[in-house]
Amino acid sequence: MAGPVPARLSSDAEVRSLAASSLLKLFDSLYEGAVVIDQEGRITWINDKYKALIGWNGSEAIEGRAVEEVLPNSRLRHVMETGQADLLDVLSLGKRQMVVSRIPLHGEAGNVIGALGVILYDRLQALKPIVSKFQQMQSDLATARKQLAEGRQAKYRFSQFVGASRLAVDTKEQARRAAEREGAVLLLGETGTGKELLAHAIHAASRRCEGPLVSLNAAAIPEALLEAELFGVEPGAYTGAGTKSRSGKFQLADGGTLFLDEVGDMPLALQPKLLRVLQEGEVEALGGNQVRPVNVRVIAATSRDLKAMMEAGSFRADLYYRLNVLPIRLPPLRERREDISMLCEMLLEQIAEEGGDASCTLSADGLARLVAFDWPGNVRELRNVLEQAVAQSDNRRLAGADFPMLPEALTVSGVVRGSVASAGVPAVRPLREAVAAAERVEILRALEATGWVKLHAAKLLGISRAQLYEKLAALGIASEESDTKESV
Ligand SMILES: Nc1ncnc2c1ncn2[C@@H]1O[C@H](COP(=O)(O)OP(=O)(O)OP(=O)(O)O)[C@@H](O)[C@H]1O
Ligand SMILES: [Mg+2]
Repeated sequence: MAGPVPARLSSDAEVRSLAASSLLKLFDSLYEGAVVIDQEGRITWINDKYKALIGWNGSEAIEGRAVEEVLPNSRLRHVMETGQADLLDVLSLGKRQMVVSRIPLHGEAGNVIGALGVILYDRLQALKPIVSKFQQMQSDLATARKQLAEGRQAKYRFSQFVGASRLAVDTKEQARRAAEREGAVLLLGETGTGKELLAHAIHAASRRCEGPLVSLNAAAIPEALLEAELFGVEPGAYTGAGTKSRSGKFQLADGGTLFLDEVGDMPLALQPKLLRVLQEGEVEALGGNQVRPVNVRVIAATSRDLKAMMEAGSFRADLYYRLNVLPIRLPPLRERREDISMLCEMLLEQIAEEGGDASCTLSADGLARLVAFDWPGNVRELRNVLEQAVAQSDNRRLAGADFPMLPEALTVSGVVRGSVASAGVPAVRPLREAVAAAERVEILRALEATGWVKLHAAKLLGISRAQLYEKLAALGIASEESDTKESV
């Protein structure tokens, strides 16, 4: 005989109701807590485990209360309102943290009629190793993001551009004016004259200072990669492009400044695309079919003769004019020798700070030797030479003999143009030049020795003050510094 025949279910509604109550029973047994809210965000059902967890005293009914009244940080209402499930989240209840899951409940017409929340795990403590690993990763990510953002900030300010000579002051003034404007800046100057320093300073003093400063050195990146670096890549743009899109420097610099270093090395083939971006203010990533607007100010720099390159056809004229809106020429050190003393003071302090030592100074004879050299590598080379001298000498006050890497003072200025490496063997030159160089050295030594008081320097040199003035003018040694000191 067959067992008792189960009673026939009378209607679909009954089936659904039974299914729902058995599901609730299942939730009750499966989870550490379960709660259901209706369309108004009121609790319609909550299991006893949940009540115990939150310490509900049992005398008052929970059902019918707004969910937030019972579970202050609940996001169930949000899930019900948006219809979007929250499959895994951490809910804080007092000091407890729990892993929860929330899903919207749909009515027959497909509309959302409430939401179900379950506690998957109420002992987050047991998950501590995973949680702390997650926290560590989050903190690493934050650090990496911060470093990235710092890498996109200006490293230098105008105050770090040292120089009181007429040329240095003019350059700085032009750069300050450029900072107030929006046009493209073109920094022209030999290697080591401070182009990068000024590019940073201009950005830092501009309206865009809160935005990023992104640099790209056209000479340092292989030609094949330059286009992707500048404009970005869409997935599958070329073999090996990867599956993720990568932002180009233009996009990274959006709202800020793009420093295009060594722009003279920009391949001819890429120049039209660069020009287009500058003109249209839009970039199109490699392999993409979408143009994105970008708001970027360009500061370009080069140590090459861009005008001559343009005339020779190796740099596009249209791009040249586009970049050359605010040109700034950075004078080489040999054209502003009077700044050498001040630069040495700053550089020696910097070197000492880095090495954790007390700062070295220069004797008059040491300075004279530096002043007489032509510095093809400009400030960078001056720094290197000082660094070498500090490292190799026991003297705290560096004398001429502490610079054996430089040619003898009397044999330089205007003739020996080799770098430090090729220096050392003085070339023969016209007597007039040699005499002028010797005069320059001796005059600078006298000025240094007397603290730039010209009357005393003239006495030391055995000439009149008027003669000294004439010679200073003829040798192009600026007199502002000596004038101010003399009047003190
Ligand atoms: N006027 C200056 N005052 C102080 N430091 C300077 C000055 N000019 C250059 N320097 C320093 O000299 C070094 C070289 O400067 P920078 O890198 O800006 O030169 P650059 O013109 O970009 O050279 P390159 O063409 O070789 O890239 C840096 O350490 C910079 O801080
Ligand atoms: Mg540079």
